[in-house]
Amino acid sequence: MSNRICELFGIQYPLIQAGMIWCSGWELASAVSNAGGLGIIGSGSMYPAILDEQITKCKTATDKPFAVNLPMLYPDIDKHIETIIRHKVPIVFTSAGNPKTWTEHLKSQGIKVVHVVSSLKFALKAQEAGVDAVVAEGFEAGGHNGRDETTTMCLIPMVARELSIPLIAAGGIGTGRGMLAAMNLGADGVQIGSRFVASEESSAHINFKHAVINTNEGDTRLTLKELTPVRLIKNEFYQQVEAAYQRGASAEELKTLLGRGRAKKGMFEGDLVDGELEIGQISSLFDHIMPAATIVAEIISEFREALSEQQTDKFKF
Ligand SMILES: Cc1cc2nc3c(=O)[nH]c(=O)nc-3n(C[C@H](O)[C@H](O)[C@H](O)COP(=O)(O)O)c2cc1C
Repeated sequence: MSNRICELFGIQYPLIQAGMIWCSGWELASAVSNAGGLGIIGSGSMYPAILDEQITKCKTATDKPFAVNLPMLYPDIDKHIETIIRHKVPIVFTSAGNPKTWTEHLKSQGIKVVHVVSSLKFALKAQEAGVDAVVAEGFEAGGHNGRDETTTMCLIPMVARELSIPLIAAGGIGTGRGMLAAMNLGADGVQIGSRFVASEESSAHINFKHAVINTNEGDTRLTLKELTPVRLIKNEFYQQVEAAYQRGASAEELKTLLGRGRAKKGMFEGDLVDGELEIGQISSLFDHIMPAATIVAEIISEFREALSEQQTDKFKF
């Protein structure tokens, strides 16, 4: 495979492992990069000193390109940016904020910048801000998400039609067939989060990994739109949020209910009752925790198989 995404990042397959708070540290990022994809360290849950250590370890574990995800709501963002530049990290995926704020500065340091969006309007704004590529993420995705509920199936062709820079599809993709479908809709590559949460190298707590592989269809829901919309497993904490909605709770009350540290509690410390368990709809398709390299190999092999099937009678009419 060689296409615009492979060339932009210097990788073998246009398959990106998403940056994910509490789940994607150096072990996962380096395993995916070593397997031919692009691994991303999720810096949104790391203190500056931790990010420094994670990048150092990632550089030791792989000589392949890797990236850092930078949610722009992060309070100490300038410290993270200084660390990224000092370590000469080649690629940064920014999210949750205005791409104009940091793109020029990062690019002036020779860093490739990709921005994550959930709508056509923001994809075009990111392109205008000078980013090298855009991730368009649909409603199915795990973690924080757009308010408009646009699905990947609808979002990707809308963005592909108007964007001229490379486009990466995210949300609900976890297989080779899903990857091929997204690329047939106009994407140049895919970003996969939920499936990699259930990898051996993910830093998620083992309880959360088991909860992820045990989800069934309908077990996740996008909620807390009044704060930052997020897709969660419908556990006890989610039921408390639902009950708050039923009694007409204000945004302020929802904020108090959410409190601080819920995501860490659920995903990193393994509290499946009171924690916030961020995962996407596609999680219901997977039943096993696997090494990240096996996940990459399986996706690429299924992609090739599905591509060759497109030559069969099913597609001739
Ligand atoms: C547990 C979890 C944590 C996430 N944390 C982040 C994050 O810190 N920054 C970010 O830009 N996106 C985050 N996301 C979204 C992913 O980067 C990715 O776009 C999404 O998982 C893709 O959809 P999928 O889950 O259907 O594969 C997170 C997703 C999950 C499942």
